[in-house]
Amino acid sequence: MFPEWRRARQGATVPCAAPQEVTDSQSERSLTRPWVFAITGASGAPYAVRLLELLVTHQVPVHLVVSRHGWRLLETEVGIGSETDLQAATGDWSDVVVFTDDDRGATPASGSAKSAGMVVCPCSMGTVSAIANGASRSLVERAADVALKERRPLILVPRETPLSLIHLRNLTAVAEAGATVIPAAPGFYHRPTEISHLVDFVVQRIVDHMQLDITLVPRWQSGA
Ligand SMILES: Cc1cc2nc3c(=O)[nH]c(=O)nc-3n(C[C@H](O)[C@H](O)[C@H](O)COP(=O)(O)O)c2cc1C
Repeated sequence: MFPEWRRARQGATVPCAAPQEVTDSQSERSLTRPWVFAITGASGAPYAVRLLELLVTHQVPVHLVVSRHGWRLLETEVGIGSETDLQAATGDWSDVVVFTDDDRGATPASGSAKSAGMVVCPCSMGTVSAIANGASRSLVERAADVALKERRPLILVPRETPLSLIHLRNLTAVAEAGATVIPAAPGFYHRPTEISHLVDFVVQRIVDHMQLDITLVPRWQSGA
């Protein structure tokens, strides 16, 4: 079921520290409230699977929403075709609640439902556009709208290339509204030798912005 990059990661010696326990006070706040985690139809399903695996491992409560094309990309890119497959790939879902994207009345659709914030990973340019314009025509879009209006962290992980002027304007608009844009653009200065290292590079930046004290890749030290 799992593609080569995942098997390679599981079997290989990865020159990265093992994930550490969540310790700081902001992390404690993040742990008490769920993170809304949306997976949409941009390329980058491996990032989503790895992030969900980490959140589950660290018992971070998750409200999970996957768009129709999010499922399509999970199937296409990592062979995950169902909720059961996604659970099998990511671990114990005791702290995960799944909502359907067409239910705009679900818990994450209301600002009165407390959350630590929201991550959209990967985030399609269609979803970026909807968020930039407050469309709220799906649960993913509405939950992102809620995160912005409630001044909660909203982390978007777009993947598209090249970027049109419309994409750039929409990304600017969401950043101006308070979102953090983390493009799925891994660096190479830690000399990755496996796809999993590239995946972890991006996921590291996401968990850093979620204020979770997890270390996946060595931190840059000048001259090291
Ligand atoms: C194989 C495949 C790859 C795609 N890759 C991207 C991509 O990297 N970035 C993007 O913005 N859209 C991509 N798309 C298009 C989106 O899936 C499409 O715009 C979809 O309507 C997005 O809907 P959603 O945001 O509700 O998931 C891709 C579609 C397919 C089928």
